[in-house]
Amino acid sequence: TDNIILSEGLARSEPGGFVLTPEFGRNYDEFLDFQIRKDDAWVVTFPKCGTTWTQEMVWMLINDCDAELAKQTPLTVRAPFLEVSRVESMESSPPEMFEFMPPVSSIDQMTSPRVIKSHLPFFLLPPKLLDTCKVVYVARNPKDVIVSFYHHHKLMKMQGCDGNLENFADYFMKDQVIFCPYFPHILDAWTKRSHPNMLFIFYEDMKKDLRGEVEKVAKFLGKPLTEEKMIKLLEHLKFDNISKNESVNFEIGKKIGFMSQDGAFIRKGKTGDWKNHFSPELNRRIDAWVEANLAETDLRFEMEL
Ligand code: A3P
Repeated sequence: TDNIILSEGLARSEPGGFVLTPEFGRNYDEFLDFQIRKDDAWVVTFPKCGTTWTQEMVWMLINDCDAELAKQTPLTVRAPFLEVSRVESMESSPPEMFEFMPPVSSIDQMTSPRVIKSHLPFFLLPPKLLDTCKVVYVARNPKDVIVSFYHHHKLMKMQGCDGNLENFADYFMKDQVIFCPYFPHILDAWTKRSHPNMLFIFYEDMKKDLRGEVEKVAKFLGKPLTEEKMIKLLEHLKFDNISKNESVNFEIGKKIGFMSQDGAFIRKGKTGDWKNHFSPELNRRIDAWVEANLAETDLRFEMEL
């Protein structure tokens, strides 16, 4: 637990520490004791790497691609977000919030097979996770993650973000944003990529060849698809359809009031959007930061397609 930094208001961190909420720190033992099941499928990511897209894919693969059933219940209930479900402050949240983000007791009571989402790095997840069940880990290039996470901070009122993108990128590179640091999160997963219960995929590959990635995930989960279901699933997962799909697109957050009316959670869905946002000077600083962090590894990202 030495590596957990409890943030108050604006997130803060120290070298090697992960920035998480005070509620998380108070409930940490519960996370470690969380009862994993052999037939769980976990989607683990750093935020903004394509979590929602992959959760919907995994849920559909496990549930016979039943789009009608999927539409009846929000994805946040069908594939709950582990660490948010434990946050005490949820107890003071409006009742509609529970219909959208259920408390952890309901994860324990879910019928198998469950799909569970987490943004925690592996070393903060239950230690037996990979030896017990399957985990799909999704990574995305850091430049698009910064842009996407900045817009996410603007959208979520509780983040109280009033800086501009450049300020945000600086906080991000100094590991002072929730769930940071980015590189240790992804590099820790990268070292585990050959584990038989682990599938490491990239957002950029999903953008280039969604069918290829769906085939990989389906094979990994032992859920092969007929051609007819594959075609339906690919249509279901298209950006335009995901962004219109109310069970997935978080628009409910605007009704409940924790999301600003401007912007959208399923925002743009592009690789290389950073080019519309970074000045040449900021881009140089980010390149240097990326290079320094990847120097000792064979992990490489596609920054544009
Ligand atoms: P942008 O903000 O760059 O648009 P997460 O689910 O991890 O929070 O990731 C959200 C990012 O995934 C957002 O990126 C969102 O638009 C993108 N995304 C969601 N569904 C997508 C889809 N079907 N195709 C492409 N990108 C998608």
